Amino acid sequence: MKRYHVTTFGCQMNEHDSERMKGMLESLGYAEADAAQDADVILFNTCSIREKADSKFIAHLGHAKRLKREDPERIIGVGGCWAQSVKDEVFARFPFVDVAFGPGQVHKLAEFLTTDSLTAQGFFEFEGFTGHLPRKRARDFQAWVQISAGCNMACSYCIVPSTRGREVSRPLEELVEEVRALAAEGVKEVTLLGQNVNSWGRSLAARGARARSFAELLHAVDAIEGIDRIRYTSPHPSDMKEDVVVAHAELASLCEHIHLPLQAGSSRVLKAMRRTYTRERYLDRVALIREHVPDAAITTDIIVGFPGETEEDFAQTLEICEQVGYDGAFTFVFSPRRGTEAGAITENLVAHEVKVQRMQRLVEVVQRRATERAQRLVGRELEVLVEGTSRTDPARLRGRSRHNKAVNFSGLASPGDLVAVQITGASSQTLTGELSLLASASAAAR
Ligand code: SAH
Ligand code: SF4
Ligand code: F3S
Repeated sequence: MKRYHVTTFGCQMNEHDSERMKGMLESLGYAEADAAQDADVILFNTCSIREKADSKFIAHLGHAKRLKREDPERIIGVGGCWAQSVKDEVFARFPFVDVAFGPGQVHKLAEFLTTDSLTAQGFFEFEGFTGHLPRKRARDFQAWVQISAGCNMACSYCIVPSTRGREVSRPLEELVEEVRALAAEGVKEVTLLGQNVNSWGRSLAARGARARSFAELLHAVDAIEGIDRIRYTSPHPSDMKEDVVVAHAELASLCEHIHLPLQAGSSRVLKAMRRTYTRERYLDRVALIREHVPDAAITTDIIVGFPGETEEDFAQTLEICEQVGYDGAFTFVFSPRRGTEAGAITENLVAHEVKVQRMQRLVEVVQRRATERAQRLVGRELEVLVEGTSRTDPARLRGRSRHNKAVNFSGLASPGDLVAVQITGASSQTLTGELSLLASASAAAR
């Protein structure tokens, strides 16, 4: 039997596309190999969001080149955003690559593998969703659901609009059907995926259907029997409407966690980033969340060292972090990307040492505030979806709360169980606790 190996870089969207690649390969009769050297088809699903993502993947390609030299029958494939951003240049730079494809052409991989001609080929035209492809999920009880592809925003630093194209939404009925099928397979938690999830539905009107709102979709998914938890990522602050915030308060399955990417705290920098909101408007969204869902965890993404960012601008980012008290934040140093507006800026660049120093200051504030904010959870009994054993202590279990906090706890339970955990401690990233016996007995009775 032929075997394949997939290495995935980048975001959840890529993880999900890889599930589709794996599912498709298995339907062609391939089996998964644990290591690349044992595989007949070696695939990389690439990311290009920051320079580091590129260099990480290029290091892996060196290994693939050696494997191809050992056995020229092996097929080396490169998919995803990096491939899309360089297109046919893939073959010029890495002549040992057999097939290259962008995020919208995952299905072409099957076509390539089942034709006789083994000349190198590239597929880079967006042709549709992977929704109809088989998938191989990592866990039985959790699933990703891609609700849209592409992005209509034009954030000046971001490569994604050029790698994933214009936004296209999948129809409501198709999504409801997919989630129903997942629930029937035992899935309890779904994460709705899109580059800008809360603009979902608007583009449906362009294709002759009725325009829909993201809140409508949340209501429809919440109504599906068997789905205990709904998450989504990422929303855009400009499209974060009151109906979505209210849905967090009203819908039993919609988790108390909102990822609200800030990027920068100064309106001047936000404007240069083309984020389409100001500092005030962002804080207004936070106030709306706190008003309707006071307990919600709010997390964010922040970029430091955007071209032209002054000390005053950066101080405003720190100030928002102090004020909001994020439950967590992904922090990035600005990385110039090919083909982007900000990537072409040559003036007023922030010096490397300044970026590094700002990053340290930012991380200090983010972690301190996250630790403080996490203390509200100590002493409470939280619902935890068990994922497996703790990474640091195999005698303990690990799961996630509805706030999306990792929880390490003692007690007996199986992956996929929803249990109640008494929280005894909290750091910036994780909670610790003990399985609550009373609650788990009642969960077992259910
Ligand atoms: N569509 C999502 C995710 C985009 S990528 C969203 O809009 O939230 C994830 C994060 O990477 C972004 O939120 C941003 O903080 C960061 N990022 C994107 N491009 C970057 C760049 N050129 N340099 C540094 N960070 C970047
Ligand atoms: Fe990139 Fe902005 Fe679109 Fe997010 S919203 S994918 S940061 S262009
Ligand atoms: Fe995701 Fe990286 Fe593409 S973050 S959308 S895989 S550039």
